[in-house]
Amino acid sequence: MNREFYYCFGCKETGDLIKFVMQLHGLSFEEACEDLAEKAKIPLPDGGEALSSEEERALRIKRDRVQKAVRLNYFSSLQYYHENLLRGVGSPLFVEAREYLKKRGISQGTIEKFQIGVAGAQADGLVQYLTRARAPLDIARDFGLIRASQKTQGDYDFFRERLLFPLIDPRGRILGFGGRILPSVEKKPSEFKLPKYLNSAESELFQKSRFLFGLTQAKRAIREEEVSIVVEGYFDVIALHQAGVENAVAPCGTALTEDHLRTLTRLGPRVIVFFDQDEAGIQATVKSMELGLRMGQLLYGISFASKLDPDEFLLENPEEHLKQLRQWIREATPLLDRELDRLFRESEGQVESRSAAVKQAVQWLSQYTDPVGRAIRVSDLVKRWEVPPAALGVLAKDLEGRSVGTARRPVPVAQAEVRRAPPPGAKKRAPLTPYDRQLLQYFVKVQDFSAYFLEARRQMHEKDSLPELFDDTEVQNWVRTILEDPAGLERLKQAPETWVQGRVSLELQSVIMEGLLQDRVSGDEAQLRALLRRGVYKSWARFSHRIREEMMRVEQAQDMEKFKELSQQFLDLQRKLKEFEESYVSGKND
Ligand code: UTP
Ligand code: MN
Repeated sequence: MNREFYYCFGCKETGDLIKFVMQLHGLSFEEACEDLAEKAKIPLPDGGEALSSEEERALRIKRDRVQKAVRLNYFSSLQYYHENLLRGVGSPLFVEAREYLKKRGISQGTIEKFQIGVAGAQADGLVQYLTRARAPLDIARDFGLIRASQKTQGDYDFFRERLLFPLIDPRGRILGFGGRILPSVEKKPSEFKLPKYLNSAESELFQKSRFLFGLTQAKRAIREEEVSIVVEGYFDVIALHQAGVENAVAPCGTALTEDHLRTLTRLGPRVIVFFDQDEAGIQATVKSMELGLRMGQLLYGISFASKLDPDEFLLENPEEHLKQLRQWIREATPLLDRELDRLFRESEGQVESRSAAVKQAVQWLSQYTDPVGRAIRVSDLVKRWEVPPAALGVLAKDLEGRSVGTARRPVPVAQAEVRRAPPPGAKKRAPLTPYDRQLLQYFVKVQDFSAYFLEARRQMHEKDSLPELFDDTEVQNWVRTILEDPAGLERLKQAPETWVQGRVSLELQSVIMEGLLQDRVSGDEAQLRALLRRGVYKSWARFSHRIREEMMRVEQAQDMEKFKELSQQFLDLQRKLKEFEESYVSGKND
């Protein structure tokens, strides 16, 4: 691979510029390539194989049409539908739409942020508008804005008498529209029942299974908060954003797909499913959970104690309910544990339903591909549910090597999970890395090894200091305390207990004591040098992470000059890190 490479220590991401853009916007690989190519005006090679000039021509035409369709959607949305909603006087429906949005608590700012629009009752309003603008009607037809009439010669509008939500992708392109029927139209007697919501037909541009409504507005918040919230409807997304919960998205009336989940987890590791509390919503939640399990991912759920849809809930009591909702979001736990818990409670004391519940639990757990997460829950089944291991089928092997009978009282799994994956903002406390453990054993004998440590310090980024050689914050703080005490090192040697007891966690105490007890550190100077090189490398990687974050900020602020400058710094640093990596970090130290 000879593409520009980066390693982001801050989020443990490695990759190249393409991956960087994938993360920044939550794009797939292909989309990120297109985005980069478009920004840099680089023609994209197609698929690697040489294309015949005939194929190349066809491909160019196809791209050209898609690009025209995007412009057409944009034009129709902004100049026609959105304009109608903001100021239109031509139809009583325009006025109704404005009042309806007001009634549902949607502000002017939100209308503009989501570029909401309205289609009136006229059968060919958009057709006429596009015709006057001399827009390509064939493309408007192919991408679902208008339709050729079977009865007459003319065309007619696809969307009529509806509130329109443009479907904007993370790159800011309008792919189509979702249209909600207006109340007066819904009430009107008609031969056939009109659907409440109508989406643009699928096209090269718009595929429901890949699209998430609100993502373009939500991506920054998802990245920052490392969690996304999936709701059911357009109005829910919009109401949540308006209330300041800006990490909400929704599929367009479909179940969650693998593609949706991949897109979301590219932006932030945690996904909360927050569907309506009706039968359909609950079923869809379980389906999503099962999809997550198959992908090896735990989706989260919240304890939403209301029958209302999220948007109605917020509207009912904006201030109080927002507080409540934020609290629930903070307390989200894995759906799997919620569902297992529900099965457990609902089958309490009834042999038949308990046995069905066990089967269901076993089925879910067998779908779950993460071995550790599964083993924890299997042992919980055996202990709390008192399921005989023989009933576990293939899962029984998860119990091997575990002394089930003598195990401690089970920790409620939901809590254990929360502790492993703390809510955003909380300090993570993972076990010490092997790297920290080894380096610590040298550090406690720093008097023997001070020359090595000082040399490493000299090579680190100037903003870093010696404690930053370690990964773990607690270790860093401990090392800092010792270095700041004039007699620290001496005392560490003479009376090590004074530096550990009550000052640091048990795990850290035991590693430190182990290091102090050993006459010789396991390994030798070569190992120490390798460990220190990795520390130096990380120091520069952290610096590079800061540049990368700065890049995101300036990109958001559209400061392209600064962005270019930072990109250059970033890439230079990547080269430096790559050299480092080749000469120093063998990867075995990890
Ligand atoms: P709901 O029927 O739950 O609507 O559909 P809602 O969001 O509560 O609608 P409001 O609040 O009355 O306006 C949830 C989502 O399912 C899709 C839409 O994406 C909608 O937002 N849907 C619904 C359709 O695609 N077609 C339909 O006919 C209904
Ligand atoms: Mn609703």
